[in-house]
Amino acid sequence: MTAEYKLHGDVAVITMNNPPVNGLGYATRVGLANGLDRANGDNSVKAIVITGAGKAFSGGADINEFGSPKASAEPNLHSVIRMVESSDKPVVAAIHSVAMGGGLELSLGCHYRIAAPGASIALPEVKLGILPGAGGTQRLPRVLGVETALNMIVSGEPVKSELLAQLPGQKLFDRMAASQASLLEEAIAFARSVADARPLPLVRNLPCKHPQGDAYFQFARNMVKGMAKNFPAPAKCVDAVEASTQGRFEDGLARERELFVYLVQTPESAALRHVFFAERAASKIPDVPADTPQREIKSVAVIGAGTMGGGISMNFLNAGIPVTVLEMKQEALDRGVATIRKNYEAQVKKGKLKSDKYDQRMSLLSTTLDYKELKDADLVIEAVFEEMGVKQKVFETLDAVMKPGAILASNTSTLDVNKIASFTKRPQDVVGMHFFSPANVMKLLEVVRGAKTGKDVLATVMSLAKKIKKTAVVSGVCDGFIGNRMIEQYGRQAGFLLDEGATPQQVDKAIEKFGFAMGPFRMGDLAGNDIGWAIRKRRAVEHPNMLYSRTADKLCELGRFGQKTGAGWYDYQSGKRDAIPSQLVVKMIEDHRKELGITPRKIADEEIVQRLVFALVNEGARILEDGIASRASDIDMVYLTGYGFPLYRGGPMLYADQVGLFNVVQAMKRFQRNPRDDAKFWEPAPLLARLAAEGKTFN
Ligand code: 3HC
Ligand code: NAI
Repeated sequence: MTAEYKLHGDVAVITMNNPPVNGLGYATRVGLANGLDRANGDNSVKAIVITGAGKAFSGGADINEFGSPKASAEPNLHSVIRMVESSDKPVVAAIHSVAMGGGLELSLGCHYRIAAPGASIALPEVKLGILPGAGGTQRLPRVLGVETALNMIVSGEPVKSELLAQLPGQKLFDRMAASQASLLEEAIAFARSVADARPLPLVRNLPCKHPQGDAYFQFARNMVKGMAKNFPAPAKCVDAVEASTQGRFEDGLARERELFVYLVQTPESAALRHVFFAERAASKIPDVPADTPQREIKSVAVIGAGTMGGGISMNFLNAGIPVTVLEMKQEALDRGVATIRKNYEAQVKKGKLKSDKYDQRMSLLSTTLDYKELKDADLVIEAVFEEMGVKQKVFETLDAVMKPGAILASNTSTLDVNKIASFTKRPQDVVGMHFFSPANVMKLLEVVRGAKTGKDVLATVMSLAKKIKKTAVVSGVCDGFIGNRMIEQYGRQAGFLLDEGATPQQVDKAIEKFGFAMGPFRMGDLAGNDIGWAIRKRRAVEHPNMLYSRTADKLCELGRFGQKTGAGWYDYQSGKRDAIPSQLVVKMIEDHRKELGITPRKIADEEIVQRLVFALVNEGARILEDGIASRASDIDMVYLTGYGFPLYRGGPMLYADQVGLFNVVQAMKRFQRNPRDDAKFWEPAPLLARLAAEGKTFN
C-alpha cells in the first residue's frame, strides 16, 4: 500500500507515498480508499487531510499503467474521487511542489484545498495526447473560470500556485499556506476549523458558464486548429470544456470520459507517451549506476570557433558556465565571437533575451591563441576541421597541457573516437560530444562512448547535458554514430528514387506530408551538398562496394552546393530561402537516367515514404543489434530531436512498431525485387526479421 495513515489528534492525515512523484497507480488508489474508509469509520476523527510525501502532492495518474488493466482496476481514480466527495467528514487537500493531472483532479474532488507557494499546478494530459480524464475538464472551469481553465488544459503548462491564488474570484484554493514547511500544520488546523461545516462544499455544485459561450468556443476551436496540426487532443479539450458549460455536471463528465477513451487509443497519444518515457530512459546508461561519482564542470574550453564551436560555446554561456575559445588565428577568433554576439543580439531584438543577461553571457566568454590558457578547464570540446590529422595534433596537445582529470571531448560527426582517444595517454577521459547544427538550438547531443571512456566521464557528460538543456543519447563508436549512420541509408534511397523517376520536389513533398520538417533535398540545400560529397568520396575508398545514385555528385560537379551558392537541388533567389524547382536539375536527372538506360516510372508517394522511413528502420535495427544504441527508444529520441522526425509518429522505431514489423518486412521484400534498388541493404536486419516472425515489437 502506498499511502500512509496517521492521526493528528482528531484529524486523519492520508499521505500518498509512491516515489518519485506519487503517481496514482493501483496501490496508491487502494491506499487512499482504505484511508478514507478508516477515517470515516473512526468516531474520533473529525476531518481528513490528503497530502503527498517527498517531492510532489501527486504527478497524476501513473503513466506506467496506461493501457494495462491496472489503470482502470477498482478503485479507479473516479471511484476514489467519488469517495472523497461523499466522505461524511470534510476532506482537505494539502498541495505542495507538484499537483498535476489526476493529482490536481483528486484535489478538486476534495471539499477544501490549501496550497503551499511555489507548487506547480497543471493539467498536462494534452502533452501525452489525451485530456484530463478524472473530471479535470469539468471541475477546473468551475473554480478558475472557463477561459483560464481552458488555457491551462489546452497548453498543459504548469502555473505557480501563488499566481493562481491571486486570480480574482478563484475558488481553486481556499487558503495559501505561509510556506511548504508549515503546510501540513496549517492544513490540519484548517481541517479542524471546518470540521463542523455542513453541507460540505463540492466543486461539482458550482455554476459554470461563459457569457459568450458559442462565440468563445468557436474562437478557441480556430486557435487550437492552427496550433495543433496533427494532434487531435487539443480540439477535444475544447469540446470537453464546452460540455462543462452545457447542462448537468454528470453529462459533462460522461462527455469527458468518451473523449478520453477515444484519445487514449490514438497513435498520436501512444507516440507522445512513448516519447515521455524514451526521453527519461535515454538519460540512463545500463551499466552506469545513477550514483556513479561525477567530475565537477566549472569551466569549459572549446577548440575551433567555426560553425559548431560558436554554437557549442553558447550552450555553456547560457547555463552560466565560463567558456574559453581557442583558434589558430586572431581573425578566426574575432569572426567566431562576432557570430556569437550577433546571435545574442538577434535574441535581444526579438525580446527573447534581456540585455543584462546578454552582458552577463558575453562576460563569461574569453578567447585565446595559446593552449596553456586552457590548462585548468574541466572540460574541453574540440570542434576543428573534420580531418583525422588535424584532430590528432589537437588531442596530442591537449594531452600535454590539460590538467589531470579534465574531460577531453570531440565534436566529430564521423571519425573514430577510439582512434582519437589513442592520441592521448588518457583514453578514459576521452568522449564524443556530437552536437547538431545549429548547436545552440538543436536539442540533440549524441554522447559517443569510446571503448575506454570512463563511467564517471559518461555520468558527468549526461548530467551536464541536462544542465545545458540537451537531450543526450549514448551511441557506441561506428561510422556516423546513430543518427548519421541511419541518415546515410535514407539519403541513398532518396537518390535511387530520382534515378527511377521521381523529382526532388516530389520526394520532398511526400516525406514532408508524412510529417518531416524538411525533405532530404531541401535539407541538403540547407546544410550544403558539398558535405555529403566529401563523405561519399571518403566512403568510396573505405566502402568501395556501397551503391549510390550519381545524381548528388553530378549536382556538386555543377557547383550547386545549395543555399550558400544560390543553387542546389532547387534554385534560390538572393536573400530568400524559398526552394524553386529547377529545370536544369530536372534535365540533369533525366540525362542521367538516359545514360543508365532507365525508363522512368511513376512512383507513388506511399512508396517514397516507405523506402525512406524503412531504410531508417532497417539500419536502426542493425544499430541495435551491434549494440551501438542500447534501446530502440534511444534511436527514436535521436530522430525526434536531431532530424525533424514528426513527433506525433514517435520516431522511426515506434512508427515501425505501429505499422507492424511483419508489414515492414513485407515491404522490404518488395524493395529487394526492385532491380534499381540495393537488394542487399533491404535484407531485413536479423533482429527485425526475428521480431517480425515472433510477432513482437522493437519497443
Ligand atoms: N506517472 C508515473 N511516473 C511518473 C509520472 C507519472 N505521472 N510523472 C513522472 N514520473 C516519473 C518519471 O518517469 C521519472 O521516472 P524515472 O526517475 O524512473 O525516470 C520520475 O518520475 C521523475 O520525473 P522527471 O525526470 O520528469 O522529474 P522532474 O522533477 O523534472 O518533473 C514532473 C516531475 C513535473 C511531475 C514531471 O515528471 C511531469 O511532468 N510528469 C508528467 C505529469 C503528467 O503528465 N501527469 C498527467 C498524467 S495523466 C493523468 O493524470 C490522467 C488523468 O487525467 C486521468
Ligand atoms: P568550421 O570549418 O566551421 O570550423 C572549424 C574551425 O576550426 C575553424 O574556425 C578553424 O579555423 C578551426 N580550426 C581548424 N584547425 C584548428 C586547430 N588545429 N586549432 C584550432 N582551431 C582550428 O567547421 P564546423 O562545421 O564547425 O565543424 C567542426 C567539427 O564539428 C567537425 O569535426 C565537424 O565534423 C563537426 N560537426 C559539424 C556539424 C555541422 O553541421 N557543421 C555538425 C556536427 C558536427
